[in-house]
Amino acid sequence: MLKLIVTIDGPAASGKSTVARLLADRLGVSFLDTGAMYRAATLAAMRARIDMTNESEFLRIIESSKFQFSTEKGKTLVRLDGDDVTDEIRRPDVTANARYAASAPKVRARLVEMQRQIAAEKEKIVTEGRDQGTVAFPDANVKFFLTADAKTRAGRRQAEMPDTDKRRDIGQVRRDIEARDKSDQDREIGPLRPADDAIVVDTTKLSIEEVVQRLLEYVEGKC
Ligand code: C5P
Repeated sequence: MLKLIVTIDGPAASGKSTVARLLADRLGVSFLDTGAMYRAATLAAMRARIDMTNESEFLRIIESSKFQFSTEKGKTLVRLDGDDVTDEIRRPDVTANARYAASAPKVRARLVEMQRQIAAEKEKIVTEGRDQGTVAFPDANVKFFLTADAKTRAGRRQAEMPDTDKRRDIGQVRRDIEARDKSDQDREIGPLRPADDAIVVDTTKLSIEEVVQRLLEYVEGKC
């Protein structure tokens, strides 16, 4: 069987996780949510109460933690040292703190190495994140970059929130998203940007199904 790597990068709430999962499912291939890896590493650091700006400490925690990632019914299940932390890694404080792992070059290098190890064990994979087409898999067979305007992304993010958080002001949700965009775009290593050979898809006016269909056509056309 030929190896297939499809990368999907894009900003927060651009729809890439949902689309990547559905695309992997339609293609019958594995799926990797690399944001979950940054989140799990962040939670490990928070539990160990380390100074998250200290890169060596962060690396030490990553090396001494046991991470397990799997997909079940389209959901990424995450275990940290045996504990199911699937929901915990989506907490707002973990989301906010993920910027420390994301902006630490050595932590990024270690997580990229883990991503390549996971991909090497699979025949075919759809992987999503911020730097998958640019840094982790520069030779991927097909690369996508999904975008959507900030207002649309804030609306999507608010709709996914648990009921207790739903009342959060949409303006605040949008500001949080824009702050994450800025920190993702401005970092020196692995910044958020489309790879030169990425297909850029603006999802603002498209349904999930339309995006998945479009991507599926590209992949089938290419491979
Ligand atoms: O995609 P998700 O929101 O789960 O990602 C959490 C955080 O991890 C993002 O805000 C981003 O800063 C970081 N991340 C990254 N590189 C990736 C995936 C995620 O820097 N490949």
